[in-house]
Amino acid sequence: GEGGHVEDFAFSFEGPFGAYDQAQLQRGLQIFTEVCSACHGLKFVPLRTLGDEGGPGLPEDQVRAYAAQNFEVFDAELDDTRPATPTDHFPANNGVGAPDLSLMAKARAGFHGPYGTGLSQLFNGMGGAEYIASILTGYTGETKVEAGTTFYENHAFSTGWIAMAPPLSGEDVEFADGHSNELHHEAQDIAAFLMWTAEPKMMARKHAGFVGVLFLTLLSVLLYLTNKRIWRPIK
Ligand code: HEM
Repeated sequence: GEGGHVEDFAFSFEGPFGAYDQAQLQRGLQIFTEVCSACHGLKFVPLRTLGDEGGPGLPEDQVRAYAAQNFEVFDAELDDTRPATPTDHFPANNGVGAPDLSLMAKARAGFHGPYGTGLSQLFNGMGGAEYIASILTGYTGETKVEAGTTFYENHAFSTGWIAMAPPLSGEDVEFADGHSNELHHEAQDIAAFLMWTAEPKMMARKHAGFVGVLFLTLLSVLLYLTNKRIWRPIK
């Protein structure tokens, strides 16, 4: 199998004015909870951030209920496990050697080149979310066994063969909002959610960037006019 083929999905958060789609982040959270969390952790993500406005935006009582119902954490003070609270992080999960997904969308680049120039990244972004969605939709159905491990052929994974069995096949979850659960929709929803876990402040960053550009544009105009006025008697 030949790997490294990443598809360009259209995400709502792309471009200078792009923003996370709150309903999509909530669907992605559901997929993470029901499917991915069996093997993967999100150990850098505080559960309370599920209530953040620029994120999934769950009401406070729902964040508390979500934490308590889905995760147990070890409490050193109690010397025992207890239901998670919003002040805890999502748990780590090292069971089957699956990497932590907190920062995966920033750790992998979907777009490269051409010829090492990075031009594709300049125009299309780094492609971390596209990479994740492409992995999930990139299985061919071929498998091979090497040294007792099963590998699954995958167009997007760098070597072409990944040790993760296809985690999604479509219709894996039922969305409360009635949104489509076809494979490519599920793949984009979980990829968007993992983009948010990796870059929860993206909206604030874009906003600050826009205000900065606006300010510098205004400053340029004022300096240009000031310059004209100062030199007018000499010209
Ligand atoms: C690797 C995503 C479910 C086991 C990965 C990678 C991603 C990913 C992005 C990393 C690929 C890389 O290193 O570039 C997901 C998502 C899931 C999911 C979004 C849910 C929809 C699962 C489940 C299992 C699992 C349920 C276990 C049954 C693994 C393993 C690896 C891996 C073992 C390492 C594969 C290798 O390096 O060859 N996963 N995963 N994953 N995942 Fe998952």
